Amino acid sequence: MQNGETKYLSEFYHLPEFKTLEGYKKNGGYIQLEKALKMQPQAIIDEVKNSGLRGRGGAGFSTGMKWGFLPKNNEPRFLLCNADEGEPGTFKDRMMMEKAPHQLIEGMLISAFAINSKKSYIYIRGEYRYSTDTLMTAIQEAYKAGYLGKNIMGSGFDHDMDIYRGAGAYICGEETGMISSLEGLKGQPKLKPPFPAVQGYLKKPTIVNNVETLAAVKYVIRDGASGYRKYGTEKSAGTKLFSLSGNVNKPGNYEVPLGYPLKDMIYELGGGIKNGRKLKAVIPGGSSAPVMTVDEVEKATLDYECLAQLERC
Ligand SMILES: Cc1cc2nc3c(=O)[nH]c(=O)nc-3n(C[C@H](O)[C@H](O)[C@H](O)COP(=O)(O)O)c2cc1C
Repeated sequence: MQNGETKYLSEFYHLPEFKTLEGYKKNGGYIQLEKALKMQPQAIIDEVKNSGLRGRGGAGFSTGMKWGFLPKNNEPRFLLCNADEGEPGTFKDRMMMEKAPHQLIEGMLISAFAINSKKSYIYIRGEYRYSTDTLMTAIQEAYKAGYLGKNIMGSGFDHDMDIYRGAGAYICGEETGMISSLEGLKGQPKLKPPFPAVQGYLKKPTIVNNVETLAAVKYVIRDGASGYRKYGTEKSAGTKLFSLSGNVNKPGNYEVPLGYPLKDMIYELGGGIKNGRKLKAVIPGGSSAPVMTVDEVEKATLDYECLAQLERC
């Protein structure tokens, strides 16, 4: 039996002050960065691997395993946050960046320390003007407070962070297209391998992770791998933010444990179909995702396994 809405990453999103450095720090901000900077980078990677955290950008690849693909001793390494969020009907990364920019920055800094990266970029959807401004203010605050720049919190770790605005191309959400775009080239995907972890931005090892994935890293450090696994299923650990839109009474972003029933998302959290009408179909996310029938919706759970194998749900 799964819980309903579970505000784990989004616990403080209702507080307007949470987007400022002061408000963020009042609610536990940057404590996990301090903790992580005292850990061995490999211990962070192991914790992330053991937590079962999987990419929140779509493919659901193990985050710790991806980090583990970085070649040894090949520097510089880059961290690239995928904030392109071009999928129709999706607006959860936007909310995270607008309500909690420092949560993303802290998650990115912990991740960057773990993979030994001194430079990161947030590649943000061009239309997200307000999110960009919010993030820029937060990055400036973080520099001023010594969370970015040289010798962060006296740890000897240096890190710089920049924002890069996309120009409205959906395909630039694909990681290799994004890297080309960041390099100033046409945003076209490249054949893999080589994967970005081996040869990415400027042909250097690059880890590309979604906004929500990077923000979740902070919680893996706070609660440990087993604490993080308190929510979700064995193969789909943790919580996830889902954007619910269409003809429902209460559209919005909802954070639930992975494995949560899709019909409960529609009828419990979303308040059901408008005007008491009958459900006809659901697009579970992504322009290339199959349209789900009512029978499939009845049985479906919101986790990687179920959505990847719709017919078996
Ligand atoms: C056409 C296409 C569009 C994509 N758009 C996004 C996107 O908007 N945001 C995102 O995080 N991942 C997107 N992805 C997935 C990325 O290529 C990549 O797998 C992801 O950013 C990795 O991060 P994660 O491991 O944290 O999920 C897209 C993939 C494809 C094929």
